[in-house]
Amino acid sequence: MPLPNAGQRVSVCSLLTALMIAAPGSRAEDIHQAPATASASDFIEIFEQLSGTHPGVRKGHARGVCAEGRFTPGEEARERFDTPLFDQSTPVVVRFSMGGGNPDADERTRAPRGIGVKFLLEGESPHHIAGLTTPVFAGKNPQQFLGLLRLNHLIQQGEASAEDRERYLEENPEAARQGRWLQAHPPAAEYTAATYFGIHSFLADRSDGQMQAFRWQLVPAAGEQLLTEEERATLPAAFLEDRLNKRLAEAGSIDLHWQWVLADPEDPINDPSLQWPNDRETISVGTLTLTGAGGVACEPVNFDPNQLTRGISPSDDPVLALRSAAYAISFGKRLSGQ
Ligand code: HEM
Repeated sequence: MPLPNAGQRVSVCSLLTALMIAAPGSRAEDIHQAPATASASDFIEIFEQLSGTHPGVRKGHARGVCAEGRFTPGEEARERFDTPLFDQSTPVVVRFSMGGGNPDADERTRAPRGIGVKFLLEGESPHHIAGLTTPVFAGKNPQQFLGLLRLNHLIQQGEASAEDRERYLEENPEAARQGRWLQAHPPAAEYTAATYFGIHSFLADRSDGQMQAFRWQLVPAAGEQLLTEEERATLPAAFLEDRLNKRLAEAGSIDLHWQWVLADPEDPINDPSLQWPNDRETISVGTLTLTGAGGVACEPVNFDPNQLTRGISPSDDPVLALRSAAYAISFGKRLSGQ
């Protein structure tokens, strides 16, 4: 901040005091910069400020629907990787969701959608994945994402402007990437007509004893299908669960191909805002077959993405690391009716 001249001194002091009063704790910070720290409870707090308090429901991805089915691994995955994930066909518990903490979220919007899958491996610890319909995240670290959410809240309250947001995104270009992607890609017409991305990198034990960094994606076997402008104008705010049930009733089951994109040694594995070049080797590691939807089987599940079975480990992506604590707080709150 430039130094004030003598005539301005009083007003600058009052401005600073006003900022401290209006913004308790660390909020007197420059709103165009990412905060210096970001904790799991900071996220729970801002989610509740942005979406309101909804006791007993998830603090992120509050609106969603359970589904169930099986995962059938492919032969190539079994040969190349040393993990029980690929030993045999396993039952899965699935949840599809809308991003955000609003249990009545409008499903026609360009918000990211999510999928959580719990692989129930026989005789082994379960494996979880939780991904989004965007290939990139809104920040290279939790601080950039938190700063963006806080600014969105200030805009919601009329205390900051769209220009402030633009300035923040200029200062933190990585935080702009997810929003730009969403603007360029209309939402899918159904939960199972979208590709879901794991976004973070993980490490897999290879059969030759080496480690392989990878990112996963779940690709609908029947292809992607986007919402048309007309549908966006005429559909009710909630239509995804109905369409999922209809699709299952008509087809009997729905397949999603689980693909792993394998990193080259020079690819960054700790930055979820960056995509790798699109010529990376991609292998199909198996098929997720959904056979039913509805019910409450996914409700008591915390789809913590660091709940990994033998042979798979997390990368040092700081966003991935933070997610476990945030999910645990949300899980504890929702189970205790908060
Ligand atoms: C700092 C970053 C993030 C924070 C603080 C955060 C926080 C949360 C919280 C609190 C929940 C609710 C958990 C529960 O009650 O069970 C949630 C759900 C979810 N998040 Fe995140 N998240 C972050 C990043 C991500 C990323 C990068 C992805 C995708 C790669 C993601 C995908 C999901 C999905 C799919 C769900 C819904 C899971 C379900 O259906 O239970 N999140 N998130």
